[in-house]
Amino acid sequence: ADPKLLILSGSLRKGSYNRMLLALAAEAFGPAEVTDGDLHLPLYDGDLEEAEGVPEKVQTLAAQIKDTDAIVVGAPEYNKGITGVLKNAIDWVSRVPGSAFKDKPTVVISASAGRTGGETSQFMTMSCLTQMQARLIPGTAVLIAGAMNAFDEDGQLKDETSRKLLVQRMEKLRAEVA
Ligand code: FNR
Repeated sequence: ADPKLLILSGSLRKGSYNRMLLALAAEAFGPAEVTDGDLHLPLYDGDLEEAEGVPEKVQTLAAQIKDTDAIVVGAPEYNKGITGVLKNAIDWVSRVPGSAFKDKPTVVISASAGRTGGETSQFMTMSCLTQMQARLIPGTAVLIAGAMNAFDEDGQLKDETSRKLLVQRMEKLRAEVA
């Protein structure tokens, strides 16, 4: 059977460049059962957790993480940091017993409007995922700067080097699950 690949976008909007990048990542990963994790979750609130337990959507997400063979995270950058959406999701999942991220082959990539391509956010995300004991697969960082001009009409990356780096990284991720 094809391996399971879970993609997580730190941006919720439909036109997200990180979503576009994740779509290319999934394609480069090769034949896979791809799941798009839903990070549209309530804000983490210890009172909510105490009163109602971990929300069902969070439990679904944690189960998808636990069940997958590999994960690719798209980490947009807001104000030189990780987006609230992504951090909130990681925080919620960390409250579900069973360490869903533990030992999961994971790659973090990013696209951003700025000139550094979301580097700060990417490293912050990796730092959080290290705490979750994810198995971060090393490689040259995939950082798409000036995202609004980086994709052509077909959603392909215009820059040849970025395209190659993404493919290399996804091949490396796939080799981890084979
Ligand atoms: C941004 N953006 C941004 N870009 C960047 O390179 N560095 C930054 O620190 C920020 N900060 C920032 C804060 C907030 C609140 C917003 C809404 C945006 C721009 C950002 O990279 C751009 O909106 C991307 O398109 C966001 O990713 P998605 O939604 O396209 O995946």
